Amino acid sequence: MLRRIDIITLFPEWFDSVKTLGLTGRAIDQGQVELKCWNPRDFTDDPHRSVDDRPYGGGPGMVMRPEPLALAIEAAQANGAASAVTYLSPQGQLLDQAGIQALSKRSQWLLLCGRYEGIDERLIEALVDEELSIGDYVLSGGEPAAWVVMDAAIRLLPGVLGHPESAEQDSFSAGRLDHPHYTRPSTWRGRAVPPALVSGDHGLIEQWRAQIAAERTKARRPDLWARPAASDPEASDVPPPAPKHDL
Ligand code: ADE
Repeated sequence: MLRRIDIITLFPEWFDSVKTLGLTGRAIDQGQVELKCWNPRDFTDDPHRSVDDRPYGGGPGMVMRPEPLALAIEAAQANGAASAVTYLSPQGQLLDQAGIQALSKRSQWLLLCGRYEGIDERLIEALVDEELSIGDYVLSGGEPAAWVVMDAAIRLLPGVLGHPESAEQDSFSAGRLDHPHYTRPSTWRGRAVPPALVSGDHGLIEQWRAQIAAERTKARRPDLWARPAASDPEASDVPPPAPKHDL
């Protein structure tokens, strides 16, 4: 179960809202999850505290220097961070809900956020154990991706959601999209709540929800519908990769 997250980032301020707001803020406030940021800029030894440099071979943009990143990773690990390093990058393995479930079962994460055009490849070869992507698009850095992954995993931790069954009913958890939700008033701007939901018949309500969820999934996400349902709920519980780098 996730207890501690360490983040290597040039912009620790990105995580101020994660620490204080909403569900993640509450989990951190209540001590369920500990969050520590490590800034590679604090591990530079030149007067400009430079963390990037021009790319060998030319081209636009700047590349993150390996040494400040390595020192920040090693300092985090010496302080008790996870030994396996997870780099958030569009070249990584694409995350889905099953991947998030597996990640939420690890006790610690050490997340590496890149900036600029990328990170010196030798740092990745030497110290990174896995690369994860949140989607086939390019962000300006790994921070929003780390934010997304943290939010999705922390809400799955026991006791974090007010109603644990809401995580089980999420879109994707059962290999299909969620059913629609309604609240009062029963008629809003001429639109009535579907009669099944006000019938008081729990069997009928479940049947209606399952049917709409199935129809939505077929129409909106035929790829998801075609995928075989995971028969073993533990099937996705993969352990973290063996770290390359032991302290
Ligand atoms: N960094 C930049 N783009 C990203 C993406 N799509 N997923 C994870 N990290 C990223």
